[in-house]
Amino acid sequence: MKVSLGLEDQVVLVTGGNRGIGAAIVNLLLDLGTKVAYTYRSDDNPQMGSLAIKADVTDEASMAAVAAHVEEKLGAIDGIVANAGITQDNFFPKLTTADWDAVIDTNLKGVYNTLKPIIPKMYAQRSGAVVCITSISGERGNLGQTNYAASKAGTIGFTKSLALEAARYNVRANAVAPGFIQTDMLKSIPEKVKQKILSEIPLSRFGKPEEVAWAVAFLLSPVASSYVTGTVVRVNGAHHT
Ligand SMILES: NC(=O)c1ccc[n+]([C@@H]2O[C@H](COP(=O)([O-])OP(=O)(O)OC[C@H]3O[C@@H](n4cnc5c(N)ncnc54)[C@H](O)[C@@H]3O)[C@@H](O)[C@H]2O)c1
Repeated sequence: MKVSLGLEDQVVLVTGGNRGIGAAIVNLLLDLGTKVAYTYRSDDNPQMGSLAIKADVTDEASMAAVAAHVEEKLGAIDGIVANAGITQDNFFPKLTTADWDAVIDTNLKGVYNTLKPIIPKMYAQRSGAVVCITSISGERGNLGQTNYAASKAGTIGFTKSLALEAARYNVRANAVAPGFIQTDMLKSIPEKVKQKILSEIPLSRFGKPEEVAWAVAFLLSPVASSYVTGTVVRVNGAHHT
C-alpha cells in the first residue's frame, strides 16, 4: 500500500527559503508534491517549482503583502514555516542595542509579522499547521547569544501559547529546535569553538539541513502529526535532552 504525508497540493509558506535550513525545507516539500512559496531577503537562487518572493520579515506591511500574494497565486495557505533568522553574537557587555534589536526584530517580531495575516484565515478554514524554527540556544542558553537565545526562547513561548488558542480551530502550532546544523550560520563560529561544540555532541557531528527539514515535514503533515501540537521537536544529536 502506498503511504503519504498528505502534503501533496497543500500550500506552504516558508520564510528565508533561499539557503540553509529553509532551502532544505523548500526542496523536501517540493519533492513531497507541496505547492511551496518562500521569502528571501537577497542573493536569491530561485528554486524550480516554487514561488519566490522578496520580503523582509521585519516589515509588517511586506509580510501582509506576501500572504495576499501567495493566496492569489497558489490558493489558501495550509502551512507556515517561520524559519528566517539571524545571529549577531557578542558577550553581553559588548552587545550593542543595535545587535539586540536586529535579532529580536528578525527572530521574534518576524514570526509575529509572518503569522499575523494568515492565522485568522486558518481559523476560518478550520485547518492549518504552523512550524516555528527555534534553537537549542533558546532551550539551554549559549555563550555570546543572550539576544538570540531570548528570541528563540520567546518563540517557544509564543508557539506553545498559540497552540492552546488555535486548537479549537483545528490549527496546530509546533516548534523545531535544531542543534548545530551545517549552514552559513555555523560559518561565523570560530574553528576552536566549533571543535569544542563537536566534542559535546553525542552523535559526534553537526546536523544536516535535510535532517531538520524532515522534522518540519512531519509537523506540517495532517496525516503524520494530526495529534501533535504545542510541542518542541529537537533535532540536535542528543546535544540537549
Ligand atoms: N544553523 C544552525 O546551526 C541553526 C541552529 C538552530 C537554529 N537555527 C535556525 O534555523 C533558521 C535557519 O537558519 P540557517 O542556519 O539556515 O541560517 P542561514 O543564515 O543559512 O539562513 C537564514 C535565512 O533567513 C533569511 N533571513 C534572515 N533575515 C531575514 C529577514 N529580515 N527577512 C527575511 N529573511 C531573512 C535569510 O535570507 C536566509 O534565507 C534560523 O531561524 C536559525 O536561527 C539554525
